[in-house]
Amino acid sequence: MTGVSTFQQFFEDLSDVMLRVNTKLQRDVTLRSRVSKRFTRKEVCEFLAIDQASLWRAAEQEPLFPEGERSGRERTFSPHEVMLIRALMASRPSSKKQFMWWREPGDPLKVIAVGSQKGGTSKSLTAAHLAQYLCLEYGLRVGVIDSDPQATISLYFADDQLNLMDPDILGMADFMGAADPKAQEPTDLTPEEMDAIWQDTPWPGTRLIPGGPAIQNADMALFFMSQARQNEGQSFPAYRVLYDAIQKWDHGMGPRTRPMDLRDTDGNFDMEAYQNALTETVDVIIIDQQPSLTFTQMNGLIAADCVIVAQTMKGFDLSTLTGYVTNIRDYTSVVTQHDPSFPLGNADHCVLATIVQESNEQDIQHLIDLKVQAPEWVAPVYYMRSDAIPNMAEQYKSAYEYQPPKSRKKSAQSFIENANAVNDYLVSRALPELPSRGYAQQFLDTMRERQIERQQKKEAAQQAKEMEQENG
Ligand SMILES: Nc1ncnc2c1ncn2[C@@H]1O[C@H](COP(=O)(O)OP(=O)(O)O)[C@@H](O)[C@H]1O
Ligand SMILES: [Mg+2]
Repeated sequence: MTGVSTFQQFFEDLSDVMLRVNTKLQRDVTLRSRVSKRFTRKEVCEFLAIDQASLWRAAEQEPLFPEGERSGRERTFSPHEVMLIRALMASRPSSKKQFMWWREPGDPLKVIAVGSQKGGTSKSLTAAHLAQYLCLEYGLRVGVIDSDPQATISLYFADDQLNLMDPDILGMADFMGAADPKAQEPTDLTPEEMDAIWQDTPWPGTRLIPGGPAIQNADMALFFMSQARQNEGQSFPAYRVLYDAIQKWDHGMGPRTRPMDLRDTDGNFDMEAYQNALTETVDVIIIDQQPSLTFTQMNGLIAADCVIVAQTMKGFDLSTLTGYVTNIRDYTSVVTQHDPSFPLGNADHCVLATIVQESNEQDIQHLIDLKVQAPEWVAPVYYMRSDAIPNMAEQYKSAYEYQPPKSRKKSAQSFIENANAVNDYLVSRALPELPSRGYAQQFLDTMRERQIERQQKKEAAQQAKEMEQENG
């Protein structure tokens, strides 16, 4: 056979077909309705850790306090309005409480990576939930880096303003200066050029470096850059390209504004200064990893202060954890030999159990085993398998933005509580300078109560059986 092989024919035909297939339908609906969730006054008070009376007082005193949306006797607020209320409270000279946990000028930028060797372990959802929680509960400006060609977390943050399908959109490979496989050296971008790669999302102060297939170019580029250097008898630190890029960007685009700078000398709130401050920098970066250990993925882990390994508890999934951690261990020992002064992440890393089926003895047994073997490295709080998920996931919506139909209200609410507990725990590991909200402790207390209940039931059943045997 001459000319085109069936292999080429297959991919050529499919490429044509996929251009015609309508992959946009569900996507468009989601993009239009992204973050339509609104929060009640009670929820706003919980985010700000204040009572309703204080919220009322602020509403009366602050001319820029958002109206919210009235529905009956309730008033509800969007995430943007929650952030504005927070900024109004945080910038008051008389404020004794801390409302805003923005980085001060000179404070370091924390980087958190969520990874694992396996797909489908809830990495992307865990990362999206953590980002949104930090926004809602602490007012942090969060940078989300999507390091996955599948771009799942990008879909969780996309709306109709952010066109992920635009072929010219830049991503992590560009941010690293490693988007061109033919280049001999990383592209030298200015901090301002790097800053332009961050895309706005519908969440206030949250920006995204989108994922997509272009990330794979970085592997190729890093490989050829290493080769080029080697041919000149030099070495190329391919493992720290992202780390160096983040440092460079942060150096040029670090925090400048403090909440108290948001008011003029007469005490008037400066809306423009507030809007600018929301995007002048980020306070924390969350990297959503791809389930593999390529050059690029190692770059994400090496750049992180804190690594969270999201891991399901099935036996065969756990074997991928073994491979993952031993590979990283071996790889980092090469890095430390080569570059002894490199600051590898020094925060409190952890394995987070995900999609745990509580009715499944094996899941629970694996989790207990892991916790017994490595109590300091395995989170005692975990994500349970949720019934609310199928509908949420279909729309690429997180627990914090999903608005359930009546029939799913209860399961959606318990998934939010589960997400709060996990996030509160992850904050204590990754960002211990933030005050805990107590959700993790509540989770542990509930678990203990349930365990006692189960034990009592078991004992009662045993006693009943024994009585029956004695009598019969
Ligand atoms: N707690 C959970 N309960 C049930 N399904 C879940 C849960 N967390 C995630 N999922 C589902 O599992 C799939 C994989 O989740 P995702 O976050 O994309 O994982 P990863 O990034 O590790 O590939 C998605 O369909 C998601 O909706
Ligand atoms: Mg993912």
